[in-house]
Amino acid sequence: MFDIKAIKVELAKVANLEQLDLFFQTYLGKSGSITLAFKAMGSLSPEEKKSLGQELTQVKTQVTEAYESTQRALSADQINAQLNADIVDSSLETADSEQGSYSLLANVRRDAEEICKSLGFIIEYGTEVVTKFENFESVNIPLTHPATEMHDTIYLQDKDPSGENFILRTHTSSMQNYLIQKHGLPLKAVVPSRVYRYENMDAHHDVMFYQLEGIVVDKGLSVAHFKDMMEKLLSALLHKKVETRMRPGYFPFVEPGFEIDARYEIYDPATGKKELSKWIELLGAGMVHPNVLKVAGVDSDERSGFAFGIGISRLAAIRYGIKDIRYFTNGDLRFAKSFA
Ligand code: DAH
Repeated sequence: MFDIKAIKVELAKVANLEQLDLFFQTYLGKSGSITLAFKAMGSLSPEEKKSLGQELTQVKTQVTEAYESTQRALSADQINAQLNADIVDSSLETADSEQGSYSLLANVRRDAEEICKSLGFIIEYGTEVVTKFENFESVNIPLTHPATEMHDTIYLQDKDPSGENFILRTHTSSMQNYLIQKHGLPLKAVVPSRVYRYENMDAHHDVMFYQLEGIVVDKGLSVAHFKDMMEKLLSALLHKKVETRMRPGYFPFVEPGFEIDARYEIYDPATGKKELSKWIELLGAGMVHPNVLKVAGVDSDERSGFAFGIGISRLAAIRYGIKDIRYFTNGDLRFAKSFA
């Protein structure tokens, strides 16, 4: 009743999965002819049922096997065809294959990190959200002290466990206590990281900027060690030999405190002469205040240290002669590309 050979010939002509589905419906589906033939056996006598049943079962098995093997072959064909169509030729040039690069500020910061590492400093970034205790009290600025007004602070709504609002750190000096706690003594670390202030933005002020804070604490450190190290560090950071000058300066977390100026030789191509630059005010620094050491649980009779804080945009501005620090962050591609 079923011509297996003819069915197989029909199957061989099937070219894709849609046609195969049609084949399935015709013979094996709910109303396919083989399925219907099984159903029609209900009205036959037991003997007829037996012999026809065996024959039909054989037909069904053979057709099902042939169908399944065709299905496997066609599925594989389809997958291969799709893979071939999807091949990506990575050697092809595309019009928009422009490569990004670090910004000038990021490059100066990364360079500063390498220099500090080579001088034996640990690099830490700390946290940008801090408590008022960390930002002020831990560095010897009582919350009621007028020195807090030196910092136009940005407050967060969330409060710390002592009930004070969290703030965005206004200076990387706020990490001094954290660094001593985390690394213990002797300590030689820098924090090259972001700080935030509520500022009117202009060519020299931004609401976010990068500072490079350094702190060194050990036994027997004096101002002489400090001056020597600053001269080495600043020469490396500015990529030219600098001479430094220290003037008294007030910062609550250091005693004595200094403003450090630097000058260096400049070559004037017009005259062919080398001249000394003017003194350039570079950074605040000083010997770590005993109160800062005390808060961190360090005996100030036994240990001493020095700290400094410099603006990374200031370094970049001096190195590259940039007059307006807003260029560093305003995303002006003409500026970015000229340093890419
Ligand atoms: N924290 C100061 C500022 O943001 C900079 C500074 C001054 C850092 C003196 C120091 C320091 O470590 O000793 O203006």
